[in-house]
Amino acid sequence: MSYEKEKQLVAEEAVKLIKSGMIIGLGSGSTSAFFIKALKERIQNESLNISCVATSLLSKELVTGFIPLIEESLRNEIDITFDGADLIDLKTFHLIKGGGGALLREKIVAARSKQNIVLVDSSKLASPLEGFPVAIEIVRFGYESTVLRINELGYSGHVRHKDGKAVLSDNDNYIFDIVFNGPIKDPQKHHSRLKNLLGVIETGFFLETATKVYIGYPDGKFEIKERP
Ligand code: 5RP
Repeated sequence: MSYEKEKQLVAEEAVKLIKSGMIIGLGSGSTSAFFIKALKERIQNESLNISCVATSLLSKELVTGFIPLIEESLRNEIDITFDGADLIDLKTFHLIKGGGGALLREKIVAARSKQNIVLVDSSKLASPLEGFPVAIEIVRFGYESTVLRINELGYSGHVRHKDGKAVLSDNDNYIFDIVFNGPIKDPQKHHSRLKNLLGVIETGFFLETATKVYIGYPDGKFEIKERP
């Protein structure tokens, strides 16, 4: 089974957690897109009464006109959020997110959610976390000075570009991808150091949020793990 099929499998399993009346958080990326598709099908077939908030403009586009959206001020608590990840360490439930550049909204939604369900294919498992750049959302104004401060702490990487242009997050900020050579042994330490830097808005380390993870495997099976 391909990674795409694994994503679809966990999305179709996890959508069974949804009950009528819930407020749902919808993540970003290809796994979340499978989830949104499965959710739309359930809503159509079962006339579920739910409302949602999306963690990216792209995900919002996928649900607009199909699922009522709640106020983005997040006055209301979210019952359950479903999102993908770039890496997960199943021993600690630490995640790396931000491959799609939506880390800030994803973290704000996760923090307002009673439950956070992470949906991953088997390529995302890494204990300790290793092998994927860690996205940092930084303010555009003075960004070269922010990059210098990041470099002074010993981190290297690059401002994310696409088609020759710097990528803008949904919040109009830049994304700086830090490349770690080797395993990330103390993500909490890296998160705290980076988060304290002037010009840094948020890091792609999601250390406290995940409550449950659905993992797809190449043999067509899936596994559900609860936070240790
Ligand atoms: C976006 C994210 C995504 O959840 C992460 O990149 C996983 O993406 P995909 O489901 O396409 O593999 O953090 O900011």
